[in-house]
Amino acid sequence: MGVNLIVGTQWGDEGKAKLIDYLSGDTDIIVRYQGGANAGHTVEVNGKKYVFHLIPSGVLYPETICVLGGGMVIDPEALFEEIENLESQGISARDRIRIADNAHLLLPYHKLIDIKREEIPNGQVIGTTRRGIGVCYGDKVNRWGIRMGDLLCEDFYRERLPKILSFKSRVLVNVYGEEPIDAAETEKYLRSLAEKLKGFLVNSSYYLNMEIASGKNVLLEGAQGTMLDLDFGTYPYVTSSNPTTGGALTGSGVSFQSLQEVIGITKAYVTRVGEGPFPTEIHGEEAEHLRKVGNEYGSTTGRPRRVGWFDVEVVRHSARINGLTSIALTKLDVLGGYDTIRVAVGYEQEGKRISYFPTYNIGKVTPIYEDFPGWKEDISGVKSFNDLPKNARRFVLSLEKFIGVPVRWISVGPGRDSTIKLK
Ligand code: IMP
Repeated sequence: MGVNLIVGTQWGDEGKAKLIDYLSGDTDIIVRYQGGANAGHTVEVNGKKYVFHLIPSGVLYPETICVLGGGMVIDPEALFEEIENLESQGISARDRIRIADNAHLLLPYHKLIDIKREEIPNGQVIGTTRRGIGVCYGDKVNRWGIRMGDLLCEDFYRERLPKILSFKSRVLVNVYGEEPIDAAETEKYLRSLAEKLKGFLVNSSYYLNMEIASGKNVLLEGAQGTMLDLDFGTYPYVTSSNPTTGGALTGSGVSFQSLQEVIGITKAYVTRVGEGPFPTEIHGEEAEHLRKVGNEYGSTTGRPRRVGWFDVEVVRHSARINGLTSIALTKLDVLGGYDTIRVAVGYEQEGKRISYFPTYNIGKVTPIYEDFPGWKEDISGVKSFNDLPKNARRFVLSLEKFIGVPVRWISVGPGRDSTIKLK
């Protein structure tokens, strides 16, 4: 099996966690490689619901080792809360969690600045999850960040930390009118964190490549989706990391030569949360219906998700960037009951047909739709492709043809069992 990678092909919330859970039965090590507690991954096993923000959802298998990769920004409070929640549900995760020593630490001032920044009068509103993600990645890029390994270095406390805290205090006071950071308290807190975290830390690139060489199966788990990618998404309405294949390599330290399958998780319609362009968005009652049937409310923030029809150009963009080898099509059951299901099969931009997802003037794109006949049957109990209604099969095969990547799994419900395997 080697190393497989799971990426979201749209704007996140494609149902990655369910497929990760389904596929990680044969996995020894599962690695989350980017993002932080902005993600909300929901998995249902035997009717019980589990929500993950930082820990890979593969933790539900009792033997799986879970790595929080170096590309992540980790809020330790959120992490310990998640570990304790799992323990209260009878799942012991503590001994199976490893944290990359180059992952960045997300602290309360990151969250405060994220909230304040979104509220600046006439400021640029991204509609972030307010979990401090962009601010923490900003510090990483600006070299003001604190890495997990720093917590174990006396030099860090003596030399870098006072400078970082003094700079962040100046920003808090002068830009946002907030109180300065209490440097002594913060140092005390970080030293206590060092004690709590040191047992989890690994040099992830060394650890993972050694384990791969010894024959272990590894699954790399992305959060968010390709259209929220900092470089290839709908900038600036994106997250601050790379959920795409490139980010999986830099965020884990796994060599590209080990990669085998790149599985694109793709919802049978599209959703997005927060601001930004969305060419196939629908509104009003039509949207309300889809949102309700698909239960499209954010698992981190509870915000209603914006919804729209399947957009082929988005997934083709994603197939190119990620090098998708297969697709898992999710939430097909949600489309049951429609007379007609719409699919955007291409775009026109300012009167011209374009055959790619544009980088600018995205708001000026007009989708070209093709209508497919729907099906009325409830497909949530269907176990094989041939047992799907004819129109559902036709819909899936048409999407596969438009995208040019084989569909290997179809999800028809939230449970582990509601998954159809093809070919
Ligand atoms: P941030 O990642 O909190 O900075 O938010 C930036 C953008 O990414 C906002 O539009 C968020 O709604 C979106 N976003 C972040 N995480 C997720 C996710 O897990 N699912 C869907 N959208 C997300």
